[in-house]
Amino acid sequence: MTLGLTTAGESHGPALVAIVTGLPAGLVLDRTAIDADLRRRQEGYGRSPRQRIETDQVEVLAGLRHGRTLGTPLALVVPNRDHANWTWGMSPWPPEGEPGGKGTKPVTLPRPGHADLAGVLKYELDDVRDALERASARHTAAFVAAGAVAKALLAAISVSVSGIVLEIGGSADWPAAIDAARAERDTLGGVVEVRATGAPPGLGSYASKEDRLDGRLAAALMGIQAVKGVEIGDGFALARVRGSEAHDEIRPGLRRDTNRAGGIEAGISNGEEIVVRAAMKPLPTLMRPLASVDLATGEPAEALVERSDVAAVEALAVVAEAAVAWELARAAREKFGGDALGDFAAAHRAYVERIAWTR
Ligand SMILES: Cc1cc2nc3c(=O)[nH]c(=O)nc-3n(C[C@H](O)[C@H](O)[C@H](O)COP(=O)(O)O)c2cc1C
Repeated sequence: MTLGLTTAGESHGPALVAIVTGLPAGLVLDRTAIDADLRRRQEGYGRSPRQRIETDQVEVLAGLRHGRTLGTPLALVVPNRDHANWTWGMSPWPPEGEPGGKGTKPVTLPRPGHADLAGVLKYELDDVRDALERASARHTAAFVAAGAVAKALLAAISVSVSGIVLEIGGSADWPAAIDAARAERDTLGGVVEVRATGAPPGLGSYASKEDRLDGRLAAALMGIQAVKGVEIGDGFALARVRGSEAHDEIRPGLRRDTNRAGGIEAGISNGEEIVVRAAMKPLPTLMRPLASVDLATGEPAEALVERSDVAAVEALAVVAEAAVAWELARAAREKFGGDALGDFAAAHRAYVERIAWTR
């Protein structure tokens, strides 16, 4: 038994879609909790005016009845309100009538750092928009909706997950850093941290590399747009200290005084708090565009300027939280199984009693 997730949707298309499989029956979902996470993803200092157009709200098309999961595929939809401005340009079918609204002209000015150039080459496209629409981080909204479902499942076994920003543009005083970057029509990246408390020892495995929880968390975080580095626990800092300062000694009661491993040893959760960090690069759409080449002429040109955030690190904290929750929920489904939520929770309870682990 495992969780599955498929997402679909373009940035300015009609909607974003997430299909979640492998949920037990009987999980109570709270629409306001899912919408609250969607709203958190949209907030943050330095986001573009797009966030004022979109007020994301989830709709459920399948897998739920009267607020409880049925144990069948759960279909979540987050409509793109901005699609109203792109009905011709992003029409799924050949558009009818005169061109109108946004996205009517082909984009030929690829932005360095984006999907634009590699995407058109790979998929044989003549319009950069055909690449950038799906590569856009807008679709993290679908992922955040699925992450909220994962958090509801984890709550049944008393695991909670939360993401925060550590720094933006190298500074802990990020509004000032963002204001300065905005004034110079530039962008910033930053670092986020996600912590999960209550995870029992034994999620993930050393049996095969695909099973390792650290590898799965790293892949989930690196799977988010603009994430260029991931640390588990003390991560890179461990490379610079001796073994005597790098590990977490085991005390009577199986307690640790330190948590340098970030709650994972040999690819398995060890019962300590799970701590991961992700580094985000500065956003690649600049209002003072970088050098590029016009793909229609081959001549030097400035890259596309499209409405964009100055920084989205606060949003990343929410998306990274969803990614960690998703991977932990998936590992918990593998360990505890169960077709009904009660079976899943009972298997967890029996296991915790067996290992006499309390926290
Ligand atoms: C929540 C979030 C919001 C983002 N917003 C923007 C944005 O407004 N403008 C932009 O150029 N890139 C934005 N990005 C980053 C791009 O989507 C990303 O850099 C691009 O797709 C290329 O992928 P890569 O950076 O992983 O190589 C955002 C990323 C995240 C996670």
